[in-house]
Amino acid sequence: MNFLEQYVKKHLGWSSLLVKKAYGDLQQAYRSKQQVGYTGLEQIQAYVFTRFPATYGVCVKLIKQHLLDLNIHSVLDWGSGIGTASLALNKYFENLECFLVEQDSRAKSFAAQFLKNFYPNINVYQHDDFSAVDLSIFSYSLGEVSDWQTVIDKSWNRTKYLLIIEPGTPAHFKKLIKVRDYLLAKKAYLWAPCCHAKLCPLKNDDWCHFSARIDRSKEHKNLKNASRGFENEAYSYMLFSKDPKSTDFGRVVSSPRIHGGHVDLKICTNQGEILYSTAGKSAKDYKTLKKTEWGDSIKHELL
Ligand SMILES: C[S@@+](CC[C@H](N)C(=O)[O-])C[C@H]1O[C@@H](n2cnc3c(N)ncnc32)[C@H](O)[C@@H]1O
Repeated sequence: MNFLEQYVKKHLGWSSLLVKKAYGDLQQAYRSKQQVGYTGLEQIQAYVFTRFPATYGVCVKLIKQHLLDLNIHSVLDWGSGIGTASLALNKYFENLECFLVEQDSRAKSFAAQFLKNFYPNINVYQHDDFSAVDLSIFSYSLGEVSDWQTVIDKSWNRTKYLLIIEPGTPAHFKKLIKVRDYLLAKKAYLWAPCCHAKLCPLKNDDWCHFSARIDRSKEHKNLKNASRGFENEAYSYMLFSKDPKSTDFGRVVSSPRIHGGHVDLKICTNQGEILYSTAGKSAKDYKTLKKTEWGDSIKHELL
């Protein structure tokens, strides 16, 4: 069990039957593309045990990949739900100021409770009138908003960095591309995953997404009637900044195929093209290329 699952099971009571029913309701909301509503404590618990491990895991992965070198003291966590992104950020940045914007008052109050419990020194603000922040994060929330331009404008105007994470589906990626066009037109710098500001070269049914391996607790498996001890969470994301950054690299945009004596890589280059590269054992950097993972950046001279 992760830290939040342990806390929730210990302090918020637990009824397998009620939580399982609440999980059914959550699934129903996702399937019918309704917004996730937390109608009771059990819904919060169901989210903690079935979605939080994945959304938290993806946030942690992206923080480690892109944010650790940045000066981040304040965060806008938009559509915070139970505080997933803020919990992940506080693991790596001390004494953060966290502004939670969340339409559901029950989820927001649990977010504040969880954050204060695990990170007693942080400041949590729960009103929509946030001041300027270092980072704005939309973790699995922008897709729920139809009037996204208004929300993006408001947060972009008051932040240095903007990270948007969405489920890794073609539909969510299409929306991210619209946000990309919108923010590039506002002179935003796109730091990742793209290493260029040209048209996205992925065509037809292809879409840019990545994957995170998430451990499942016993309760998680039970709620989902799952047998495997892990799940692979597909996600798409974009990280924007007010400042430029060197883009002297390409991005590995699918899982590398490692064969007996060679590795096949699919790279989105900084020229805005898709490059299929095969490196055999005789390649100078074969050992490095063999260890490359889906989502990594890669220096062009290695290819
Ligand atoms: C899928 S949940 C993601 C929660 C959390 N960020 C995470 O990563 O686990 C999306 C959240 O966005 C919130 N949300 C959707 N539309 C909103 C709006 N217009 N204003 C504030 N919050 C909103 C929902 O209530 C929900 O809690």
